Amino acid sequence: MDLGISGKTALVAASTGGLGLAIARALAGEGVRVAVTGRRLDRAKEIAAELEADGHHAIGIEADLSTPAGVATAVERSVEALGPIDILVLNGPGPKPGAAATLSADDIAAAFELLVKPHHALVSHVLPGMRERRWGRILAVGSSGVVAPLPNLAVSNTGRAALAGYLKTLAAEVALDAVTVNMLLPGRIATDRVAELDQAAAKRRGTTVEEIQLESRKTIPARRYGEPEEFGAAAAFLCSAPASYITGIALRCDGGLIRSL
Ligand SMILES: NC(=O)c1ccc[n+]([C@@H]2O[C@H](COP(=O)([O-])OP(=O)(O)OC[C@H]3O[C@@H](n4cnc5c(N)ncnc54)[C@H](OP(=O)(O)O)[C@@H]3O)[C@@H](O)[C@H]2O)c1
Repeated sequence: MDLGISGKTALVAASTGGLGLAIARALAGEGVRVAVTGRRLDRAKEIAAELEADGHHAIGIEADLSTPAGVATAVERSVEALGPIDILVLNGPGPKPGAAATLSADDIAAAFELLVKPHHALVSHVLPGMRERRWGRILAVGSSGVVAPLPNLAVSNTGRAALAGYLKTLAAEVALDAVTVNMLLPGRIATDRVAELDQAAAKRRGTTVEEIQLESRKTIPARRYGEPEEFGAAAAFLCSAPASYITGIALRCDGGLIRSL
């Protein structure tokens, strides 16, 4: 299927690794000119160079998206290098674990600082141009916790639910301008972060990483973790021209992990 986005531009937040990188690669593979961003400039540039070597067009930008200045820099440099942004991918680090019963006021503030504010700031910079040009794709990386809150991830569940509410409201407001707003929810995709989480769980429980992974795979109907490329492909479709009538959804990419409809 021709995704019809060759020549479009994309700013992919937090794309020097993991899911963001998989999305950047998938979009570049469709001919999208991609801004790869993260705190590590050397890694961002390295990825951009790899994509360029494969015949794609990409730039690497250093941006700490936890600060308003970092968000502004990412947008400015992307526009300078690539032109107006057609596709905005919202992504960032996950918060620390913790129970809801012991959540502090600072934890609640942190949920918004980490999981809502940077994404809202990026949207505020980019959305007006998309609406003017009457074409845009906004896609946020969420978590299966948006559908089924995950135990001991209270900050994540709180912040991501808030983000989902914001984006769902926004989707209806900008649909007439041909801007779609969606979320893609990973279950368990094999990134460095997931590997680190499994290692931490093994240490905490005095067992092996293999044992933790086996237990985890048993909860997934597909009996395996997803590959970043599978997640990237789903993301590229949601950012595509043929996905023009899909907006306001939260699509799961989880091998069947979430059992509810
Ligand atoms: N993988 C999964 O199965 C899964 C499941 C549920 C939810 N999620 C969520 O999906 C998101 C991405 O997960 P992942 O597995 O891809 O994580 P990851 O492998 O740890 O990658 C995180 C990315 O975020 C960048 N980053 C971190 N802090 C940043 C900052 N302040 N500003 C800009 N970039 C920053 C990192 O690059 P730099 O170090 O260069 O900044 C890296 O590129 C997270 O929020 C995670 O909680 C993932």
